[in-house]
Amino acid sequence: MIPKECKRLAEVDFPIAEVSRHAAREKSIRHGHPSTLHLWWARRPLASSRAMLMALLLPDPGDPHCPEAFKKAARRILLGMHGRPEGWMEAVEPDDGLRRILLKFIADFANWDLAANGIWLDAARALVKAAHGEERPLVVDPFAGGGSIPLEALRLGCEAFASDLNPVACLILKVMLEDIPRHGPGLADELRRVGAEIKQAAERELVDLYPADPDGSTPIAYLWARTVRCEAPNCGAEIPLLRSLWLAKKAVFKREKGRRIKVRGRQALRYRVVRPAEGPQRVELEVFEPETDNDVRAGTVTRAKAACLCCGAVLPPERVRAQLSEQRGGADVLFDEAGRRLGGARMTAVVTLREDEPGRRYRLPTDADYAAVHEAQARLAGILDEWERGGKQGLCPVPDEPTPAGGGSGAGRAFSVQRYGMLQWGDLFTARQKVALTEFSSLVARGSDSRGSEIANLTLAMAVGRCADYGSSGVIWAQGGEFVAHTFG
Ligand SMILES: C[S@@+](CC[C@H](N)C(=O)[O-])C[C@H]1O[C@@H](n2cnc3c(N)ncnc32)[C@H](O)[C@@H]1O
Ligand SMILES: [Zn+2]
Repeated sequence: MIPKECKRLAEVDFPIAEVSRHAAREKSIRHGHPSTLHLWWARRPLASSRAMLMALLLPDPGDPHCPEAFKKAARRILLGMHGRPEGWMEAVEPDDGLRRILLKFIADFANWDLAANGIWLDAARALVKAAHGEERPLVVDPFAGGGSIPLEALRLGCEAFASDLNPVACLILKVMLEDIPRHGPGLADELRRVGAEIKQAAERELVDLYPADPDGSTPIAYLWARTVRCEAPNCGAEIPLLRSLWLAKKAVFKREKGRRIKVRGRQALRYRVVRPAEGPQRVELEVFEPETDNDVRAGTVTRAKAACLCCGAVLPPERVRAQLSEQRGGADVLFDEAGRRLGGARMTAVVTLREDEPGRRYRLPTDADYAAVHEAQARLAGILDEWERGGKQGLCPVPDEPTPAGGGSGAGRAFSVQRYGMLQWGDLFTARQKVALTEFSSLVARGSDSRGSEIANLTLAMAVGRCADYGSSGVIWAQGGEFVAHTFG
């Protein structure tokens, strides 16, 4: 055991430059990284969590109170590492040399590539054991968030206690720290099996809302613009709020017989103003292939102001917000009885995929695209109606809790969706997104009785959370990589 008077390594030195480098690099790692399990905002890098824990758990060999037994064991462990540098043999001999090599070990072990390497893991755990004996040290993190600190504590062979005020964080912690380690690779197999069943069931339920194109292409994203009305006298045209008219900033090529063939050029929207004899002017969109960047006109929104494409008038931010507030954020289409679009959100383009073709295709929306949205609104009304008629048992199928209020001082937020009329969490999603998300979550929840274990279902709840992140009305189409970027991006 380490006597109280003995300093820990972190109190005398820490390899901050190397650990920072590994922590920065870790940010770009996605595949297999625990951070991809679920979004958490204040997540700390695993590299620095691991390094700091080790430096806090190990005593400083240079300290006169450092137990001889630890120093002896540490030398044996470090020198016993397969592939360790030749020079370590002499370097670890003096106590300050041992300190230097321990710090070097901590710095190098901060590398994500070594985090699951058996040689390094065994050595790290053996060092912790050499310092603490048979009783595993307990690492307590009451503000654990995404769980970087308790996860690394478990990796180093400690016991971990983690808690958080936020239930989402608690769910992440439970799945990551308890379920995944307890069930091991078997959990992954179960998730694949249950996940495939849920996917099939969801596809069956939702196929009408996401129809394939007549030519067999699959729409993979519907691009929308919120709309406001121009308030200039004698105008009244609809202004689609578009930050940019670009759809795809790179051309698509394929290889055929060693030659590079262009499949599709860059893609963007352009518009023309139609001035009918009666009624307000309107904007018609077209998908085209720009030759130069200058062929693509600017969007309609800058700094929350909206420019009318018909008359050039500019709607100030407070009027844009007021008009969107009247539409509860404006994510939904307003239809008449017959299902014709009257206003609200406007579909600007549909992105499709064809199995036999590389790259994404872009087309204008059709009546069939709007019909599916109309159908989704009817379905959503049915879901809510059923809940109401059933006496509003349990939580509302669409989250009706208030969104956070903004402004103010102290804990107040600089930005709030309430300013745009999105007063409840449900307002952050379109009707179709709400139908899909309620379907996913009820399939996962129902699964706990029939399909798989409760464990798999908690992990699948994380997948539903991710679907909500990638399927809200706040996501954008990344025109560079041609994918949907998540809400908080
Ligand atoms: C900086 S984050 C922790 C990040 C964490 N180390 C990680 O790597 O993800 C702070 C956390 O404290 C939580 N929190 C704030 N107030 C709390 C309280 N009174 N009790 C428990 N947790 C709280 C927040 O929900 C948040 O997850
Ligand atoms: Zn106008």
